[in-house]
Amino acid sequence: MDSMLIQGVELILSQATTMDLTWVGNKEVKRQLEAAWLILSNKDLPMSPRIVGKPGIGKTTLAYCVAEEMSQAVYLFQCTVDTRPEDLLVTPVIGANQNIRYHASPLVTAMLKGGICILDEGNRMGEKSWASLAPLLDMRRYVESLVAGIKIPAHPEFRLAVTMNEDASTFDVPDYIQSRLQPQIEVGFPSQEEELAILEAHLPEAPADILGIISDFLSRSHEENRAYTTRDGVNLARYAVKLLHLGQISQEEAIQQALLQTMDSHALDFYLENCVGQKEEAISRLHELLLLGAPSALGLNEVLNLGVNDESTDDWSDSELSDVSDLADFADDDLDED
Ligand SMILES: Nc1ncnc2c1ncn2[C@@H]1O[C@H](COP(=O)(O)OP(=O)(O)OP(=O)(O)O)[C@@H](O)[C@H]1O
Ligand SMILES: [Mg+2]
Repeated sequence: MDSMLIQGVELILSQATTMDLTWVGNKEVKRQLEAAWLILSNKDLPMSPRIVGKPGIGKTTLAYCVAEEMSQAVYLFQCTVDTRPEDLLVTPVIGANQNIRYHASPLVTAMLKGGICILDEGNRMGEKSWASLAPLLDMRRYVESLVAGIKIPAHPEFRLAVTMNEDASTFDVPDYIQSRLQPQIEVGFPSQEEELAILEAHLPEAPADILGIISDFLSRSHEENRAYTTRDGVNLARYAVKLLHLGQISQEEAIQQALLQTMDSHALDFYLENCVGQKEEAISRLHELLLLGAPSALGLNEVLNLGVNDESTDDWSDSELSDVSDLADFADDDLDED
């Protein structure tokens, strides 16, 4: 176990966090975080930004990936409602022969080793714990461990970022802390293109069709300000691909089942109304016309014009277009025979 002697007290250090993550798209938020952590002269200090945004939108991934690119060890600390000041700093643990040993938290380990600490979901933590970080977050750059009776200075290379959720199960971070967690970096929804690239990066083996349909679903739900995020999209795609892999199910059925099981019936309804509604409408309109013995003049284009406008076919997959066009050809053949 790695340890360090600070003012005569031996601190047992935490392990760094390693994850296999790659940030895709949104270069602007990446640039903002890089800027916040820059030091321009030996009088300059790095800033400690707060990364905010909806749950599952990529805040932790952003912080981790930028930190990793700086080639410094990354220490992730998961904040919870139960996080006490000593958990954040130094915890006493009774050793085998009843002696007290002091464990440095991931935050303190990053401070000592010149690493980068990500305080994840910081606003789940109460004010008492935040108060213990006040001196670290301004020009003093140290913390005081009451438990170990030591003052721990931060290494010049030490960096900190806090991620914060906007959901209801969080505390308001006190103003004097907010004013030290600067700047605020806001992660928003990715564009459809970016979200497709994120899905492709997570699921390189997935059929392109499925990922296209799911990124379309996500982008429509972002437009309507629904709560479905990139994480939901990754889970949805992952499960749909697994279902499809086992067979006995069509691609469409796999997506719909995955929507229901990884999200909920509202997500499935939203999908049916916004993503497949128009296509099904046109196909069933064509069926109706066939049953009525459509005249040959009523080919694909006419049906589309009756059912949906032309723009709505822009995002149809090749297989969907060919389904409709097969139906239209079938109608024409039928009429030729007559
Ligand atoms: N731009 C991106 N590049 C790569 N992966 C991304 C991106 N955005 C989101 N993801 C993926 O989406 C999922 C959720 O991301 P992450 O856990 O970082 O979100 P979060 O905002 O920290 O969520 P929470 O608020 O719940 O902590 C992860 O699988 C992550 O890898
Ligand atoms: Mg997170």
